[in-house]
Amino acid sequence: MTDINQLQLELADQSPRTILKSAFQHFDNIAVSFSGAEDVALIELCHKLTDNLRVFTLDTGRLHPETYEFIERVRKHYNLDIEVLFPDAKEVQQLVNRKGLFSFYEDGHGECCGIRKVNPLRRKLATVDAWITGQRKDQSPGTRNDVPVVQKDTAFSTDSHTLVKFNPLANWTSKEVWDYIRVSEVPYNTLHERGFISIGCQPCTRPVLPGQHEREGRWWWEQDTQKECGLHAGNLIARN
Ligand code: ADX
Ligand code: SF4
Repeated sequence: MTDINQLQLELADQSPRTILKSAFQHFDNIAVSFSGAEDVALIELCHKLTDNLRVFTLDTGRLHPETYEFIERVRKHYNLDIEVLFPDAKEVQQLVNRKGLFSFYEDGHGECCGIRKVNPLRRKLATVDAWITGQRKDQSPGTRNDVPVVQKDTAFSTDSHTLVKFNPLANWTSKEVWDYIRVSEVPYNTLHERGFISIGCQPCTRPVLPGQHEREGRWWWEQDTQKECGLHAGNLIARN
């Protein structure tokens, strides 16, 4: 059994590459969670380290056309099977028939994100021992300041199943990610050419102005400290 606290101490100041190497050494049943944005840097890093790369993405049904196109471009570029996970049709239908297609503007993003992202993610994470995300500290001062490079996933572990979460980019800045994308000539989502920095679902993402923080382009009608959709709910639990 891997000692996660010990691993966190050893890896805390290491490079993303070293963290990923260690992740693949410790876990065979491990998958990367890819959002279709600048976390493509993770895929590039992983691709160089393993021939057995497993990647999944959550298709909420509300992504931008550019993001769908980009996911396909990444699939072809790396000759990679990207597993696309869908929400439960019945749950989506009930929500939309009850509250319409934009209820999140009125009563918050929690319910829709729960159905379209968190539930499919929970089903997926029950089948792996560890997952890898593109979370970084600098992405969200309100919620991600303390993101460690590896942690027990308190939101998705159960009594019978301990899940480990790697965040190899935690200490990288946005600039470091983008320098890496450019130097490695990695494909990127064309929305980034139009002022989008952080990219999620189309109705809940907008471009930001110069000087605005990237998180201001996500769920802009809500408070900074609530800007987690449940994928990374542990960030909120840790602060409460
Ligand atoms: S979010 O929780 O606010 O939506 P964010 O867009 O910052 O997350 O992305 C952080 C990391 O969460 C991504 O690098 C990725 O690992 C994971 N993630 C976010 N959205 C998705 C998605 N639709 N599919 C798969 N993973 C995702
Ligand atoms: Fe629904 Fe918006 Fe969450 Fe996407 S980000 S799942 S559209 S509330």
